[in-house]
Amino acid sequence: MATDAAAPAAEAPPAPAAADQDINPWSVQGGVDENGEVVAIDYKAISKKWSTSLIDDALLERFERVTGHKPHRWLRRGLFFSHRDFDRILTRYEHGDPFFLYTGRGPSTGSLHLGHTIPLQFTKWLQDVFDVPLVFMLTDDEKALFKEGLAFEDTLQYAMENARDIIALGYDQKKTFIYSDLKYLSNHFLMNAWEFSRLVTFNQVRGAFGFDGSSNIGKIFFPSVQCVAGFATSYPEIWSDTPSNVRTKEIAKIDCLIPMGIDQDPYFRLLRDNSHRMRYPSPKPALIHSKFLTALQGAGGKMSSSNPNSAIFMTDSGKQIKNKINKHAFSGGRATLEEHRELGGNPDVDVSYIYLTYFEEDDAKLAKIYDSYKKGEMLTGELKKLAIEVLQANVEEFQERRKAVTDEVLASFMKPRRLQWGGNPNPKPKPVPEPKKDKEVKAGEKDLPERQKK
Ligand code: TYM
Repeated sequence: MATDAAAPAAEAPPAPAAADQDINPWSVQGGVDENGEVVAIDYKAISKKWSTSLIDDALLERFERVTGHKPHRWLRRGLFFSHRDFDRILTRYEHGDPFFLYTGRGPSTGSLHLGHTIPLQFTKWLQDVFDVPLVFMLTDDEKALFKEGLAFEDTLQYAMENARDIIALGYDQKKTFIYSDLKYLSNHFLMNAWEFSRLVTFNQVRGAFGFDGSSNIGKIFFPSVQCVAGFATSYPEIWSDTPSNVRTKEIAKIDCLIPMGIDQDPYFRLLRDNSHRMRYPSPKPALIHSKFLTALQGAGGKMSSSNPNSAIFMTDSGKQIKNKINKHAFSGGRATLEEHRELGGNPDVDVSYIYLTYFEEDDAKLAKIYDSYKKGEMLTGELKKLAIEVLQANVEEFQERRKAVTDEVLASFMKPRRLQWGGNPNPKPKPVPEPKKDKEVKAGEKDLPERQKK
């Protein structure tokens, strides 16, 4: 008879599988460690994986030197953390060369959440600093293609509601064109989208976005649409009162800067890989990427419309904000008051503190809160109260501004028209290029600037 000792050991529960973080334009999921715990999103890892450049002090110093503006607190605090060719945009600005801003929103619900407002508020700030045109795409086509159960009529209606939210963020009407894909796409824009689709194979979009044989064909074409919005030739009317009815080489040369959450980067890698292959080549658009405003539940997730408990919506009342923070905001505080006083809290994982890093302007005040919470002097309830006050003020101000967005105001932003902007008021002349060594230089011409030589 088999003894107990010889009996096969009861089967151990399977070890939870560790998993890598998964970030794509439609969902964001932090990694999972060996204990099955969700871990915070690793932004350095995603930047490395996608070969973006991290924003460093040297770039911020250059920004300040070139624009004369102190970098936004989200740049100073590393919340906008990564870029592609942002330095080239600074050079363009420095010399007064034209460029425009492009960003967007996928209208999957009638209201923005606080997370969406991060790249959008930042874009408004960039527009103020650079004084350049902005085109704002509402991808009502994308959302109906990708989200089960949404009709095109629904997403079009959400687009109009979202456009009011966007206007309430304070963009300058003279410099801003907002459009719904379902209403605007035609002529030059559509020609660009079709031409771009000819340059990209199914294998490439499958690799970039994970499509398979069962993906509807709208999804497969859509990346063309989101991409070509970064070409100046898609909007002939914003550059001139008498737009040419053909795409031109000159307009194609106008550069573009795209602010976004890092989840949107896969689209724009595709764009950058192909922009020079268009009939009228455009520069590779420059990109600047934000981290995600974390879900109320904390590490490993982003605030998302598909999980209403994770998000503060721009329609929430002061009372709802208070309840959400008090009930759901993950706390870095200790289990008991005594422990907290003795060991201190952990502000780095505390969602109320993280929200303050976004919305509290005063660096010194923020540093004081950090220290005091870490030492256990400030309690979780006190920290939550501070976050509630700052968020309530932000959302209430937004709601007041939104009330002023009448039908006429909405129509004025969405009308295709010539935009008006100033650019750099004091551009520096471009350095004169060195004469090429292998080129024969006529006697006496050696020291003349290149443009004066025959
Ligand atoms: P959408 O509607 O998913 O998101 C709009 C913008 O908000 C960013 N975002 C966030 N940023 C910080 N914290 C969060 N929790 C958070 N959640 C979303 C997104 O990264 C995005 O920048 N396909 C796009 C629309 C689009 C677009 C663009 C976006 C069209 N063209 C150009 C950026 C740039 C979309 O569905 O975004």
